[in-house]
Amino acid sequence: MARKMVLTIAVFALFLAAVRSGDSSSDESQHYLKMPEKIDDMSRRLSEVEIERRINQILAQMTLDEKIGQLQQTSGVNGGDFLPETAALARAGLLGSVLNIRGAHITNTLQRHAMQSRLKIPLVYGFDTIHGYRTLFPIPLGETATWDRDAVELAASIAATESRATGIHWTFAPMVDVMRDARWGRIMEGSGEDVFLGSEMAKARVRGFQGDDYSRPDKVMACAKHFAAYGAAEAGRDYNTVDMSERRLREIYLPPFQAAVEAGVGSFMTAFNELNGVPATGNKWLLRDVLRDEWKFDGLVVSDWDAVIEMNAHQYSANDSEAARYALNAGTDMEMNSRSVAQHGRQLVENGKVSVTVIDNAVRNVLRAKFRLGLFDNPYVDERLENSTFLKPEFLQAARNITARSLVLLKNENHTLPISKHIRRIAVIGALGSTPNETLSHWSADARPSESITILQGIRAKLPDTNVIYEKGCEVYCTTDKDFAEAVEAVNYAGFAIVVVGEPKEYSGEAGSRSMIGLPGRQLDLLKRIKETGKPFVVVLMNGRPMTIEWVAENAPAILVTWRAGTMGGHAIADVLFGDVNPSGKLPMSFPRNLGQIPIHYDMKNTGRPIDKSSATLDQRYRSKYLDVANDPLYTFGFGLSYTTFAFENFTLNTTTLTADESLGIRVEVVNTGNREGEEVVQLYLRDVASSITRPVRQLRGFRKINLAVQERKRVDFVLTRRDLGFLDKQWKLKVEAGTFEVYIGNSSDTIMMKTFTVTTTKIF
Ligand code: NOJ
Repeated sequence: MARKMVLTIAVFALFLAAVRSGDSSSDESQHYLKMPEKIDDMSRRLSEVEIERRINQILAQMTLDEKIGQLQQTSGVNGGDFLPETAALARAGLLGSVLNIRGAHITNTLQRHAMQSRLKIPLVYGFDTIHGYRTLFPIPLGETATWDRDAVELAASIAATESRATGIHWTFAPMVDVMRDARWGRIMEGSGEDVFLGSEMAKARVRGFQGDDYSRPDKVMACAKHFAAYGAAEAGRDYNTVDMSERRLREIYLPPFQAAVEAGVGSFMTAFNELNGVPATGNKWLLRDVLRDEWKFDGLVVSDWDAVIEMNAHQYSANDSEAARYALNAGTDMEMNSRSVAQHGRQLVENGKVSVTVIDNAVRNVLRAKFRLGLFDNPYVDERLENSTFLKPEFLQAARNITARSLVLLKNENHTLPISKHIRRIAVIGALGSTPNETLSHWSADARPSESITILQGIRAKLPDTNVIYEKGCEVYCTTDKDFAEAVEAVNYAGFAIVVVGEPKEYSGEAGSRSMIGLPGRQLDLLKRIKETGKPFVVVLMNGRPMTIEWVAENAPAILVTWRAGTMGGHAIADVLFGDVNPSGKLPMSFPRNLGQIPIHYDMKNTGRPIDKSSATLDQRYRSKYLDVANDPLYTFGFGLSYTTFAFENFTLNTTTLTADESLGIRVEVVNTGNREGEEVVQLYLRDVASSITRPVRQLRGFRKINLAVQERKRVDFVLTRRDLGFLDKQWKLKVEAGTFEVYIGNSSDTIMMKTFTVTTTKIF
């Protein structure tokens, strides 16, 4: 036994001991993803002990009104400016924070008002820098499709640099809501359907925004939102009710938030929705029991916009005073936009409805954030550096690289792609292909359409010697076919078409829910007409969510998903279309065949009556399925093609038996068997064959993006620990249970390459 253990350990040591499956970074891709240099001597951060000492000092001098003032966040006005009333509140020391204000000069001007207040507590400025500030990266869903932690971290760090230069201290990102209903408009802002991928991306984004010290002049405080389960809004309708078991909540919706806490996120935002009858903003169980007591979070909790007083509409509180009381007592520290705490806080304390301790602790959380941001030492931003910080060539280059690597090739019949750069004529069709605003998104921060590259511009820049003919064919929402003829003529003349179709940007984002998720307007009819020409064509999809594109999948020779691609979108898309970049994106969300399949995700439960296509004798009628559509999606989670091919070989486990305390080493070799260099995402899934709480059919437990030259072979190692093997028992403790497991390796969630192993002991950790 002892010998076997020694052997196991020795073999295991050979397996990349340091690399945990969750932490394995895509070091291979780093050669063209360079992090900005560290500015080590620019930290203004005090030690945590010193911060607490200073907080106590300030708190001891504060009046109740000043304390309540710190809990208020008001909004700037369009363009980033502020109202005279805001300045007056700041001077009086009755304001903690302002959102939507930006611009170095404006933020400094308002800060000077705050610095005239009695206690000179600086304001903290928040803003929705979601996927870039001036240099826009792909929407978060698109960034996630890179499956590259370093890329996502880099995008966030550039977003932080540009934001801080304009005076913003705090971004309301990342949104870490898991989401499984593509009708929900906010799908674009998150990381998709998977818990593990979502948690990894949450950590990467927090690291990118904050670094290890967000007092630095190129970092911002991050905010994990929306706590919690906002992504589970019933029927995908924004702001809608959520009612779910604690198990589902803890297994699926909470882990990315916990991952953000582990990564050191500085703040949380409450969700708009109610959870099991209690609005999130007034939900003590969420905000105190889970977030503070279990996870030991010591950062700042801000409400969502008006979410405190919306507890009235939820029929939870009877009036604003009650709403303020519920929010404060539940653990919401700062109120965004509405003013119920400012208006009723004093009375609530005087009437004993809210204790001074509750107020003090909320103020502590606000002040702690301001100290961690270094604002007490330097509340201002250097106005001279602002403009030169935006859109730096290296930022644009990073955006182009990351965007190109976020595109997902869903279909490529007969090598339709890449297109030869020597093509003489090419038609570009579709309104979305030439509308600068459309490569941006619902959350575009201060990115300017004039600074973004459309697909048409990207193609023209790529093909200086080609006759690139552009026809709209159809507006995104068009209701007539009146311009189809010109488009068809252009396709006939050119002999090859790139057809850009999809959703307009306002069809996703907040309040962007849809009841149908196909192509809006007559875009599908336009595609059908183009198909009739018999000319080859490529469908370039612009989308903030998975869409129902069954006809396209059957009829288009090639499909490239481009999300909303950001500032460098046109160049990046052209890079992929014409082969300068080999596509490597993988879907972070399944594309359903039709709406009726929603919610659809790869990590479903098996049920007692799964369909079994391999059985000829099974009565297929009484199985868990639909009569009119297959169970599997059109394109599954983790799927995405390349211009080259990869083989997975020599898949081995370092042992086939282990105890609950031990880890498992997994190795596979990946070979580029095609004739172009390319990147592949090696994905590892786990299935727990039988357990006391049923587990999904498989769950992602590791991934790694690697780059391979032609014929190159690389070894990829994963290590599975108890965190990967275990699940939450009935007391919410991590439990590894004895039994058989299956581990799958491949390049998509439907991979069939499998090995089994056995855990011999059961243990609760
Ligand atoms: C409402 C959104 O739900 C939230 O995500 C955002 O950060 C705030 N508005 C502030 O703009």
